Amino acid sequence: MATYHKLIFGNCMNMEEIENESVHLIVTSPPYFNAPFDYEGLFINYDQYLGVLNNFAKESYRVLQEGRIIALNIDDMLVDGQKYPIVADAIKILQKAGFRYRDKIIWKKPNGYLRISKRSGVILQNPFPMYFYPDNLLESIVILQKGKFDYRSISNEIRNLSRIDKDEIQDNGWYKTLWEMTNVLPGSVLEKNVAAFPEQLPYRIIKLYSYVGETVLDPFLGSGTTMKVARNLKRNSIGIEIIQDLENVIIKKVGFEKDCEGKNDGDKFEIIKRSIGKFKSVTINYIQKKKSKDIN
Ligand SMILES: C[S@@+](CC[C@H](N)C(=O)[O-])C[C@H]1O[C@@H](n2cnc3c(N)ncnc32)[C@H](O)[C@@H]1O
Repeated sequence: MATYHKLIFGNCMNMEEIENESVHLIVTSPPYFNAPFDYEGLFINYDQYLGVLNNFAKESYRVLQEGRIIALNIDDMLVDGQKYPIVADAIKILQKAGFRYRDKIIWKKPNGYLRISKRSGVILQNPFPMYFYPDNLLESIVILQKGKFDYRSISNEIRNLSRIDKDEIQDNGWYKTLWEMTNVLPGSVLEKNVAAFPEQLPYRIIKLYSYVGETVLDPFLGSGTTMKVARNLKRNSIGIEIIQDLENVIIKKVGFEKDCEGKNDGDKFEIIKRSIGKFKSVTINYIQKKKSKDIN
């Protein structure tokens, strides 16, 4: 079965290229509010950040089919000694947009694989009360649903093609609310400067919540992990990414470089670039200037 992949460079606050109710699953990881290193100083304040989640939630509700799932990998964020309750706020925003809160899975990273592991060192340097900032080994994957799914809407053929191996579920503990998955390690070339999630995350979500031949959307595509996994799992995909400099990274990750032509099993790839208007794409240079407050 050949698949189709559409990459849109633009701001996902508007998903105008995507028709109402045309997507079967959304799996994504939005930027974390002013996260140290990745998004430091990007948002003027927390309200502005919540506004971004709000627009994303409304557009997601519009494009998702009735009965279908939105899965959001997100985490609370400690900025300047203050913890922002992003997970709770994101759930509330998605509920307000119309989604039903269905589940929360905790993603546990292995001990010793932390991207930022300096926090707990503070208490070891100063072994006195009030110096305690624990290292965070956990992130959340919140699962929300739009209405009720009609199981009879899927043909027997597609149902069988999408069968999940029971051993895979049992051996890897997918049936639990705690998923142990190794994060993308520092030094990974394609994920440089992108807070990428490991392939295992969209792999599980796509297998558990979509059927072969359906369309998976990631509105914060980053390096293209969701698109790559969707393709491998015989799903179509749409990805939106605001930073146009990621084009080559995404093409490479998803396997649509020029030298792969002819080896694509009929899979198709299209790129749309919004270069003008309020919801256009931007460059890394622009983001750097925004962080350093050279532009508003
Ligand atoms: C946490 S990263 C996602 C990483 C992705 N899951 C991966 O595995 O590579 C969030 C991405 O969203 C992009 N982004 C931020 N705001 C956006 C917006 N308004 N519209 C589209 N993309 C946006 C960022 O440039 C970044 O690449």
